[in-house]
Amino acid sequence: MASLTIRKLDEAIKLDLRQRAARSGRSVEEEVRVILRETLQGPEEAAVAPPVSPGAVVPSPGPQRTRAPGELRVTLIIGGGIAAYKSLDLIRRLKERRIRVRCVLTRAAQHFITPLSASALSHERVYTDLFDPQSEFDAGHIRLARDCELIVVAPATADLMAKMANGLADDLASAILLATNRKILLAPAMNPLMWSNAATQRNVGQLGRDGVVMVGPNAGEMAEANEAGVGRMAEPVEIADAVERLLRPPQPRPLAGKRVLITAGPTHEPIDPVRYIANRSSGKQGFAIAAVAQAAGAEVILVAGPVDLDDPPGVSVRHVESARQMLQEVEGALPADIAIFAAAVADWRVANEGAQKLKKTSAGMPPLQLVENPDILATVSKLRDKRPPLVIGFAAETEHLIDNARAKLKKKGCDWIVANDVSPATGVMGGDRNTVHLLTRTDGDIAVDSWPVMTKEEVAKELIAHVVKAVADRTLELAP
Ligand code: C5P
Repeated sequence: MASLTIRKLDEAIKLDLRQRAARSGRSVEEEVRVILRETLQGPEEAAVAPPVSPGAVVPSPGPQRTRAPGELRVTLIIGGGIAAYKSLDLIRRLKERRIRVRCVLTRAAQHFITPLSASALSHERVYTDLFDPQSEFDAGHIRLARDCELIVVAPATADLMAKMANGLADDLASAILLATNRKILLAPAMNPLMWSNAATQRNVGQLGRDGVVMVGPNAGEMAEANEAGVGRMAEPVEIADAVERLLRPPQPRPLAGKRVLITAGPTHEPIDPVRYIANRSSGKQGFAIAAVAQAAGAEVILVAGPVDLDDPPGVSVRHVESARQMLQEVEGALPADIAIFAAAVADWRVANEGAQKLKKTSAGMPPLQLVENPDILATVSKLRDKRPPLVIGFAAETEHLIDNARAKLKKKGCDWIVANDVSPATGVMGGDRNTVHLLTRTDGDIAVDSWPVMTKEEVAKELIAHVVKAVADRTLELAP
């Protein structure tokens, strides 16, 4: 095996390494290891590979974990108190909410629960030791302090809180708490007299001024016989709710109360029971718009042709195959405040659809007669009573993009058109990126707003931002 001496590296590389290491809170040696691991495994796995220490309990070996989309990470410090058993339930509740949990047990905590049970529930290594001469990583506590979005201390004992308030760092838990630049949530648990003691209350005040957040303690029976008062640790569900509020604060919901109808994906037009006419639309753009509109607080109805995508959470999805089924579902979903027709609806269907599978005959290919499909966008745009106040169409073109989109805006009678070039060289059909132009009617004229190349999620966010602005500006007669 070749060895690498960092001292002998080029000055510019050394400087770059030092800066990277400082930014990520690692030593230079560790940064080099991460870079090498990233090169071999990809960035996510390298970033989540936890330190190994002799005090660490290693769960049964499994595949190296990658970070799932939307997954958040919490370092959970379990202090020494009878309430430590509730922290095992807390691990489970956090994991149910797609929050990854890495546990640190203080020495006192290990009198109440074992690292093995925390490890089995979290499916992660559990950490107990600060000083670790054999550690592969020389700054394990820094990683535990920073490779997370939040640090939770549950139960937070009077002793741990006193150490925190005074900046002590003589074990792994207190060192992490001192070394972190992440938000800290404490769930205090102690005897009522310890809680009301002037020293504890001084520490509580100091920690509050330091920006530490607390959940509980609650009032109630103590573990000790015949004692009651304030000092019980908040219940695991309350702590998990507090974690969620800190990690996923409520987002603004500018489309709350608005009903948004979206079509997406291709349509399949049957030739016979086993064959159909289709197109290359993946549905990604329409699904992304549905997800963003839902996140903006709208009630979203998504009418989707056959796609290979998961239903966006919180969206009411109606799955259809053909253009006629799509129209039927769209009409059934009206009235709506906003309609966005992103589906690539087949223009034609087979008039003489075979009831049985068509057979090869000596006469050659059976002739397929095509008839025009209903135009969903034009139909809805021209409705009298139930026309949504804002109707948006898409124009997927392979040539004369803007001219064709202008003509389509007029012909179909919609309010806005999102025009995109789908010639094969752009890779838009089925791809993840899109270059679009937004055509809007303004004072009898048509304005063209050209956006830079974006991911389909970014296009969705930009489009919904324009919708939100139109709603806020009251440029459209939307329902109140
Ligand atoms: O296919 P075409 O370029 O005409 O599609 C433009 C717009 O019209 C798109 O928003 C598409 O969803 C919609 N459309 C429709 N029903 C059709 C054809 C297209 O709603 N039969």
